[in-house]
Amino acid sequence: MSLLEVRGLKKQFDGLVVLDGVDVDVEEGDIQGIMGPNGAGKSTLFNVINGIYTADGGSVRFRGQEIANKPVHRIATMGIGRTFQVARVFDEMTVLQNMLVPTVPLSMSRPEALRRAEELLEMATLDGVKANPAVEISGGQKKLLEFMRTMMTDPTLILLDEPFNGINPALIEVLIGIVRKLNNQGKTFLLISHEMPHVSELCNTVAVLAAGGNVARGSPSEVRENPTVIEAYLGQ
Ligand SMILES: Nc1ncnc2c1ncn2[C@@H]1O[C@H](COP(=O)(O)OP(=O)(O)OP(=O)(O)O)[C@@H](O)[C@H]1O
Ligand SMILES: [Mg+2]
Repeated sequence: MSLLEVRGLKKQFDGLVVLDGVDVDVEEGDIQGIMGPNGAGKSTLFNVINGIYTADGGSVRFRGQEIANKPVHRIATMGIGRTFQVARVFDEMTVLQNMLVPTVPLSMSRPEALRRAEELLEMATLDGVKANPAVEISGGQKKLLEFMRTMMTDPTLILLDEPFNGINPALIEVLIGIVRKLNNQGKTFLLISHEMPHVSELCNTVAVLAAGGNVARGSPSEVRENPTVIEAYLGQ
């Protein structure tokens, strides 16, 4: 049994079919990439997995349990974290306050929450800006902050939507190091990216979507050389 099993997933918006029977398998302990041209339905897939959108058909199983159409907070509590393509942080709060937001409904004590937040901020090289309002940090730092904030609840599976987009090369190296470290600690990742070099560096498996359907799945080098994948991108 895979950690995450998406089967025949369907989603449409006012007749626009965005996911047309998508299958995704994520094995526990893997770092899997999702690639595909603009508008392929990648972010929509994440939005259905984490409960922002309801599915129009198909299933999403996490640890064998059906989660499609469950509320966002329930899916988060079950152990799925996610980031957004454009980072969502609370601009007026400090970086540290942002980190503490997910711990409010949990039984985590304040000292424990602070200890965990400090540790994650240090790992992301954000400890020097922890007292700054989030509005003052760079776009790349916001992406790292959102990622680290997701880790406050210790999810098992983390969905990252274009984590390398709009972040400088030095922070990309930090980000890659964090994903590797957390993966070594047992965390599983599913990450959307167009950046083949980073995907090749990090991911063991890559699934390619186009026009809401599965195009290919394999190692980064296998999908890179797959003629259908090349065509899907060139047709863009
Ligand atoms: N809430 C919505 N209402 C209507 N249409 C939507 C909605 N969300 C997404 N779509 C449409 O679904 C299609 C797929 O969008 P999605 O954001 O999932 O693509 P993507 O693969 O993430 O693309 P990109 O690489 O540009 O981020 C697009 O045509 C988009 O306009
Ligand atoms: Mg997207």
